[in-house]
Amino acid sequence: LGAGPLAGRHVLVTSGPTHEPIDPVRYIANRSSGAQGTAIAAALRDLGARVTFVTGPAVVPPPAGVAVVRVETAAQMLAAVEAALPADAAVMAAAVADWRVANAGAQKMKKDGSGRAPALEFAENPDILATVSRGALRPRLVVGFAAETEAVVDHATAKRLRKGCDWIVANDVSPATGIMGGAENAVTVISERGAEVWPRMAKDAVARRLAQKIAEALQ
Ligand code: C5P
Repeated sequence: LGAGPLAGRHVLVTSGPTHEPIDPVRYIANRSSGAQGTAIAAALRDLGARVTFVTGPAVVPPPAGVAVVRVETAAQMLAAVEAALPADAAVMAAAVADWRVANAGAQKMKKDGSGRAPALEFAENPDILATVSRGALRPRLVVGFAAETEAVVDHATAKRLRKGCDWIVANDVSPATGIMGGAENAVTVISERGAEVWPRMAKDAVARRLAQKIAEALQ
């Protein structure tokens, strides 16, 4: 039997970017490394939780001791998340692509000699956080993220309501902060009770403090 305040709890974590295909050999992606999501999954595991870790193609390897589900696209991530429910809590740290390529080619796109470039058309991806927050199998605690460059608390507060989640972990990713791609993070946790400003600390420390807060909420 596991030990720790989250023993017997199942927590779902999404992490990393998604890849949206253009054709069989090309894709659109973003610069998410998966560092913060991976640290959160490890911290939840360390508190005794059974963790399902649904990850896009991240740079950072997944932690040991969690159930890893590898996906590429947002559509695959949503399917994997729904297959992993029920869970006591969900932490959606993935940087999901907002759009997929609607006219992706079944074969590699070729230059046709005309000198004209192909035009990509986009379709909106499902919002995984909003879908889970409003779904029949909604976990008791749903945590979303918000990367903002201005008016962090206002934007994150609005996002919390729009998405239907319990908490939003917001951070300021303006270039001047050095947070994006860096080892440290400075977050504000938005809940029903308002905004909690955490001091700047290592991403691992943010993960441990968030895991602790999740354990307290599930008590
Ligand atoms: O709307 P925005 O992308 O800023 O919201 C960020 C939060 O929503 C993150 O928790 C992210 O994992 C989640 N999200 C999602 N599915 C999407 C877009 C964002 O789960 N399609």
